[in-house]
Amino acid sequence: MDKKKQIVMSGIRPTGFLHLGNYFGAVRNYVRLQQEYSCYFMVADLHSLTTHPDTNELKEHVYRVLSENIACGLDPEQAVLYCQSHVPETAELYLLLNMLAYVGELEKTVTFKDKVRQHPDNINAGLLTYPVLQTADIILHRAALVPVGKDQEQHLEMARNFVKRFNHRYGELFPEPQAFNFGEELLKVPSLDGTGKMSKSENQYATLYLGDSDEMIKKKIMRAKTDAGPSAPNTPKPDYIVNLFQLMQLVSAPVTLAQFESAYMDASIRYGDMKSQLAIDMIRFIAPIREKALSLQQDKDRLQRVMRQGAEKARESAARTLQLVKDSMGLNYY
Ligand code: TYM
Repeated sequence: MDKKKQIVMSGIRPTGFLHLGNYFGAVRNYVRLQQEYSCYFMVADLHSLTTHPDTNELKEHVYRVLSENIACGLDPEQAVLYCQSHVPETAELYLLLNMLAYVGELEKTVTFKDKVRQHPDNINAGLLTYPVLQTADIILHRAALVPVGKDQEQHLEMARNFVKRFNHRYGELFPEPQAFNFGEELLKVPSLDGTGKMSKSENQYATLYLGDSDEMIKKKIMRAKTDAGPSAPNTPKPDYIVNLFQLMQLVSAPVTLAQFESAYMDASIRYGDMKSQLAIDMIRFIAPIREKALSLQQDKDRLQRVMRQGAEKARESAARTLQLVKDSMGLNYY
């Protein structure tokens, strides 16, 4: 099948600075996919309202996510880059899909249960139907591939269930969307404190942001959890050390990684040296993205143009899909 015909879609919530997890789990894949596939990438501002109802900083965050995506190599001339709320067809499809989603399955979603724990005072209906809105985003363009990190696996599974239900009830219209990572398993970039994953709005000292200064990157890496080192050769690595090696694998040269792997195996490793090297390599990776994003963010005119042009293209595709949806459902009375 002609790759150009395969449709790719993904989104990122504007709830803070993008971090290393967003980059390696998602954006790096966007950049690789944009030339050969028909790509739609968006800033999920509506999704962010489920947990961040205060909109004072939203606009800046939207500009920032957009700038950071472009700074990472996304080309608005190749991929359609837009903001979710600029495409109201999303909300229409979301409404129709809500009737195909069962409250029981939504309540069992891991991210919903996490959010209930984190925000017991704001368990809103939008939070419950979050995966339905995400499905609407994806199938609005009839996308088949969805580049995301491992944390989105369950949302994609739910999207496939909603799609199967739609196709079964109203006729085959949508491909079943698959979570995607280039030739590998879905990625989970670990946090620096040895527990969980890097995240935009939690554990900020354990997360490396694409906007972090060189000093901040160094500080965060140097205080990452380690121990006295292996006491004998070939000792299995504790989780927090596995994480450090995983981060090194993402940004350091293979020869550097191999050198520290073998130092670990013969129990001669010095974690101070490893962290210093990781900090150098991380700064080399993050600094150019940070600087580029910073300068793009000053150019609001350009960002607005990108969003406007993206919304136009996304709405064309959305209108086509909605017409097909309404025809399939028989919601076409004249
Ligand atoms: P969000 O904003 O939490 O994250 C954006 C992308 O970054 C990935 N990611 C990670 N990957 C690896 N390791 C990590 N530590 C890590 N942290 C985040 C996420 O998997 C995601 O790909 N619900 C989505 C946004 C969304 C969406 C969509 C995604 C809205 N509509 C349609 C795909 C398709 C979310 O909250 O992502």
